[in-house]
Amino acid sequence: MICLGIEGTAHTVGVGIVDEQGKILSNIIKMYRPATGGIHPREAANHHAANIAPVIKKALIQSGKKIKDIDLVGFSIGPGLGPCLRTVATAARALALSLNVPLLGVNHCIAHLEIGKVITKASDVVLVYVSGGNTQIIAFSNGKYRVFGETLDIGIGNCLDKFGRILGLSFPSGPLIEKMAQKGEEYIHLPYSVKGMDVAFSGILTATKNLIGKQKPEDLCYSLQETCFAMLTEVTERAMAHTEKKEVLLGGGVACNKRLQEMITLMARARGAHFFCPPPSLLVDNGAMIAWTAVLMQRGGCHMDIQDTGVRQNFRVDDVEVIWKDVITTRS
Ligand code: ATP
Ligand code: FE2
Repeated sequence: MICLGIEGTAHTVGVGIVDEQGKILSNIIKMYRPATGGIHPREAANHHAANIAPVIKKALIQSGKKIKDIDLVGFSIGPGLGPCLRTVATAARALALSLNVPLLGVNHCIAHLEIGKVITKASDVVLVYVSGGNTQIIAFSNGKYRVFGETLDIGIGNCLDKFGRILGLSFPSGPLIEKMAQKGEEYIHLPYSVKGMDVAFSGILTATKNLIGKQKPEDLCYSLQETCFAMLTEVTERAMAHTEKKEVLLGGGVACNKRLQEMITLMARARGAHFFCPPPSLLVDNGAMIAWTAVLMQRGGCHMDIQDTGVRQNFRVDDVEVIWKDVITTRS
C-alpha cells in the first residue's frame, strides 16, 4: 500500500509518500515565510494553494511512483489555522475523489508522535511535543494518547519566535536564538513557571523582553533557552515517573534544538530510560508523518466518508481513539 500525506496546519505545506512498512519514499516541504511580523493565516493559506500542486508533483517524482500508484490519501485535519486547514483539506478531498481511493484526516500532533516512533523504533514513549503552536507532554494510556502536561499560554516555539522578532531576527527565530545562545556567558535570572504538570511562557517572554538593551542579547538567548528547557525537562521527568515509561521521544520543530536534546538526554540517562529523536526533516511539520499515520489508521480499521472530513481547528490528541495501537509493523 502506498499512501500520500498532505500537511498544512500552519506555515508549512508538505507532501510525503510512504509505504505500508513506514519506509519514506519522499518528503517535500515548502514553508511560508512572512516578510514582516508573524504568520497571517490567509496569506499562509494562499501560499499553500499556490504550492500544493507543484509539491505533490515533486514528491511523486522523488518517490519514483506515479499518481495511479497511490492507494490512500491522508491530510492534516487539525489542529491548526482554519484557512490553511481548509485549503489542504480541499486539495486532499479532490485528490482522493479523482483517484477513487480512501481519504483519512489525521491529527497533526499524533502524526508527530507516530513518525518518531516508526523512525526510531521506540514503542511506548513519553513524547515531548514542542513546536511553534504546541507544547505538550503526551503518552499512551487507556486507549488514547493523553496530555500529561502542557503550556497554559503560548507554545515554546512561539515564545522563541516572538522574542527573536523583537531582537530583529528573521522568522523562524528558534534556530537563530540557538546559535546566539551558544555564545552566551552569563545566566540571567528569569521567572521559572511550572504549575503542577503545566508550564507557561508568556511571563518569561515579557521578563526577557524587558531586559533587552540592559543585558547582552547572547546572554538573554542563553538564559531564555535554559529556563524554558529546564521547565520542560522537569515536567517530562515527572510524566515519566507517573506513567512508569522508560522511553522519551522528541517531536516538533523546537526539538531540533541541540541544548534541549542534551537536557532531555541527561534526564533520561539519570532515570535509566532511553532517549529517541528523529532527524530534523521529520521533527518539523512534514507530509510523511501524515502519510504514515494514515497508513496506521487504515490498518487499524479507520474509515472516513467525505462528509466526515471537515477540519477541526482545536482537535486535541485525547479526542482520538487509538484503534491502530496494536498494529504490528513488519519493518526490520
Ligand atoms: P505545530 O503546528 O505543531 O505547532 P509548527 O507550525 O510550529 O508546528 P514546526 O515545524 O513543528 O511547526 O515548528 C516550528 C517551530 O520550531 C518554530 O517556532 C521554530 O522557531 C522552531 N525551531 C526550529 N528549529 C529550532 C531550533 N533549532 N531551536 C529552537 N526552535 C526551533
Ligand atoms: Fe507541527
